[in-house]
This record gives sequence, C-alpha cells and structure tokens, in this order.
Amino acid sequence: MRRTVVRLAWLAAACTAEELTTLWPYPASVHAGDGTHPICPGLRARLEPASRDLERALGRFRAHAFAHGPHGGECDARAIAELRVRVRNARAELQAGVDESYELKASCAAAGGGGGGGGGGCAIDVDAATQFGAFHALTTLAQLVSYDFASGAYALAGMPLLRVRDAPRFAHRELLVDSARHWLAPAALGALVDAMAMAKLNVLHWHLSDSTSFPLCLRAAPALCAAGAFSARERYARADVARLVAHAAQRGVRVLAELDVPGHAASWCRGYPRVCPAADCAEPLNPARADTFALLEALLDELLGAPAGGGASRGALLPERLLHLGGDEVDTRCWEASDEIIAWLRARGLSAADAYGRFVLRAHELAAARGAVVVGWDEIFEALGGTLPRSTIVQVWRPWSRASSLANVTAAGLRALSSPDPAWYLDSLDVNWTAAYAHEPCDGLSAAQCARVVGGGGAMWGERADGSDVEATVWPRLAAIAERLWSPRARSETARAEPRLRAFRCLLLARGVAAAPVGNARARDAPRAPGGCAEQ
Ligand SMILES: *[C@@H]1O[C@H](CO)[C@@H](O)[C@H](O)[C@H]1NC(C)=O
Ligand SMILES: *[C@@H]1O[C@H](CO)[C@@H](O)[C@H](O)[C@H]1NC(C)=O
Repeated sequence: MRRTVVRLAWLAAACTAEELTTLWPYPASVHAGDGTHPICPGLRARLEPASRDLERALGRFRAHAFAHGPHGGECDARAIAELRVRVRNARAELQAGVDESYELKASCAAAGGGGGGGGGGCAIDVDAATQFGAFHALTTLAQLVSYDFASGAYALAGMPLLRVRDAPRFAHRELLVDSARHWLAPAALGALVDAMAMAKLNVLHWHLSDSTSFPLCLRAAPALCAAGAFSARERYARADVARLVAHAAQRGVRVLAELDVPGHAASWCRGYPRVCPAADCAEPLNPARADTFALLEALLDELLGAPAGGGASRGALLPERLLHLGGDEVDTRCWEASDEIIAWLRARGLSAADAYGRFVLRAHELAAARGAVVVGWDEIFEALGGTLPRSTIVQVWRPWSRASSLANVTAAGLRALSSPDPAWYLDSLDVNWTAAYAHEPCDGLSAAQCARVVGGGGAMWGERADGSDVEATVWPRLAAIAERLWSPRARSETARAEPRLRAFRCLLLARGVAAAPVGNARARDAPRAPGGCAEQ
C-alpha cells in the first residue's frame, strides 16, 4: 500500500520531455521525462548472450558515453549501475534487410522499494532483435549521457522514465565513397565507417574503380592495380579489404562494392588493353571480345566466390550479397569508332544502344550466377526497363529523368535506392544541409511504390575531395540524410531539426570527426569566427 502511494507521487513529479535534443537521428518513438539521473561509468553490463561483437560495441559505448574518464570516486548510491542487453536472434547475419529494431528502457524501482541490487534499483534494459539493433541502442544511449565537470559525475537524460522504441524507416542507408578519383587510405575509410555508425548508417558503398584508377589488387587480375592505380602506394591489398569489411561489420555496416561497367572503366585497359575498344578510345569496355567477360568473371570469382552447384559461392573476398555494377553515363562513341566492334554489331543486327543493354544483362547474369543481387545506376532502367531481372535494385541519381525516376522504377515493380543529384550528392559543395534534409524519397509515390524504395544515401564523389577534406565534405550533411532515412517521414521540419543537428555536429567534433560548420552555405568551409561548436 505504502509503496503504491510513493510510486504515484514519483510519477506525478515527472514531466514529459518534448524532445530529447541530443538525439540524432531521432528515434521512431520516444517517451521520456525531462530530468536526468546519475549514471555510473563503471556500470555492470549483462549481455545475453555475450559475444565478442557485443563486448566491442559495449566498449565503444563506454568510450563515447564516459569520454572524460571514470568517476573520481564511488558512484552516487542512486546512480544507474546496471545495463542489461538482450539479443533475441544472436545469429542473424549482417545482410540487406536484417532486423535493426531495438527497445531501450531506463527506469528506477520505486523509492524505498527494497529488492536486491540496492541503489534505488535503477537499470537500463536493451531488448533487440539482433546484435545490430543492440548496437543502435547503445549508440542512442551514448547520446543521452552528459558529464558534469564540477562534480565529475555523469547523468542520463530522459529520466525518470525513458522508453525508446526504434527501427529504421529504410533498410538501406549508405554513404558512397569514391576511391577511384582519389585514393582514400584504409584508415580514412575506417574512420568514415566509425562516424557512419554514430548516425546509424549501415552501408558503405565503395566505388572501387573508375576511368581514372583501379586501386584494388586482386590475384585474378594483378595488372589491373599494377597498371591502373595512381601510384605504387595508392592501392588496396586483399587484406585491406578484409580488414575494412570486418571493421565495418563490427559496427553493423555492410561494405557494398561497385565495379562500374561498361563505362567509367578506362583504367582497366592500362593493364588489359584487349578489353577496351582502342588505346586512345578506351571506354566503354569492348563488348565484342570474350576477354572482356573473362576478365569480369575472374574479378567476380574473387570478390563473390566462384559459382557453386548449389548457388552458394566459395572463397569470397566480400560477404555482402549485393554487388553494384554501375552502368551509368555510357557513351558508345568509341564502339562506333572501332571497325572490330562495328563489324560485331552488324553481324548481330545490334545498335550500340542494344549492345549496351546486352552488356548490362550479361554482367548481371555473371554476378547472379555467383549469388549476387545486382544494383545498378538508373541508366540501366532507362535502357532495359521491365526486362531487367526482378531482383535488380536500381539506384536513382537523376530525379529529373523522365524515364528512370524513382516513380518509374517503382511503378515497374523494381526496388530502388534514392541518391539524387544534387541534393544527396555530397560533391555538390553548394548544397547545404537543409536542401539535403528536404529531399523525401517517397514524394509523389504511392504506398506500394514507397515500399519498394529500400533506401538511399549520400554520394561522396571524389573528383574534388581526398583524404585531406573528405570527412568535412561528408559531415554534417550526411547526418541530415541519415535522419531522413532513419526517422519517421513526418519528422521533416528543418527549424525543429536544426538545434539537434548542431548538437550532433558538436558530438561528432567531440569524438574527433572533422564535421564542418552546420551553417555553411558551402560545404567544408572553415568556421567564420571564434565561437562554440553549436554556433558555427
Ligand atoms: C516515368 O514517369 C513519368 C512521371 O510519372 C511519366 O510521365 C513517364 O511516362 C514515365 N516514363 C516511363 C518510361 O515509364
Ligand atoms: C540552403 O540552400 C537553400 C537553397 O537550396 C537556400 O534557400 C537556403 O537559404 C540555404 N541556407 C543556408 C543557411 O545557406
């Protein structure tokens, strides 16, 4: 009886917070108080079931949440000292569509409520479908912890009763990085992945090769990187790829490789001149030669594993089932300037445009035979429309296109990704965060069409960004994209989002991420005057 009375009084004292201003991207559902409660940096964690990946995620949580080190002395007796993390399906694989939902609850047993544990019985409970959901829960939790420099104590916001139920709106939330226009060090890619996880992004789309360079060193075709890289240093060994894939997976981030064919591939000819129309007219790749497809097959064998009877592939460098085969901006003039290719086209009664379509379908078939789900830029839909395999995912970068917009692709029943130029093209330096935030992938689509949009992301094309400034070009605009892809559709008001984005940018800076000022009209400009991180 007495206990009930105390509990009611405690509930009455708690006010509900309008919005937790340190959360980004905002969760699907938050019920929170407007108070704080002490939290102990040495809090006990119970992981059910324990795993190395979860232990690592917990380590990152502690480093982020308790960044100023452990509390000087004993924690306040009332402090939250227990964190329980339960993962329902610990064996879920990190693949497209994996369940990333989680529930996060922080509460205290009623004051004076006896019961074991003592210290007011405050605890945090995370309940997640998979460990990837649990990673997101810990990311959210770390954003709610603050430090009091005077007392040396940490506090959790949203108390006395915090309840977050969360799941992403879109399954695929990517950052495209382009290490073909400028090589990016594995450490720089790893740092981008670290920051992506802070914004709950989950796919690193790695544009590996282009006309300018082919930095990936593969056993199957050693001359590609030997002749195609910018320099002896600016290359990736197989071990670099494996390490990046593992680093990303520990953060719930998949690595989706892109081999852009048949255009954007002139670098291939430096090592393998036979796959190109001519030395001085090098792309698109030569469709008339068996060598072209033999080389492509050798690459696919190494990346995806050789085709096996049962469909499962063996010996893959990439665990990811999606593979991007580009297909964009193909200009066939070099085909039409080659006697060999002209004769080949004539013999088959094909136009150059037909040959492009056949090339795309052949490349798709070869990848599919090795278990891949193929992604391609929207030009492949413009050329092939409904004749594309039903499993194809079309990445739409030309929202203005009359033939291959998101509306066109999804109306044809295919799945799509949204990466509109310029709103989500991070190389457009004059697109500010509000323009990125304003892009709504499902604008003008029916509910059925919207359901076929699996996500999208920011594209950091690398012509004018390298290791010196890529991070500041990406952040904080990528955060605006991340919230659009994660949070409910109704969360779209720029004015309401701005203080939270400023806080998130401060958080990125605090964690050593080179995020440019939020107020920049041009991305990555330096701050204009002395001032706090949130004022820039
Ligand atoms: C693409 O969509 C637009 C707008 O809905 C429509 O006018 C056009 O006919 C479509 N094109 C194709 C090829 O389906
Ligand atoms: C952001 O860009 C839009 C145009 O896309 C412009 O209207 C707005 O004023 C810009 N905001 C800032 C802060 O520069």
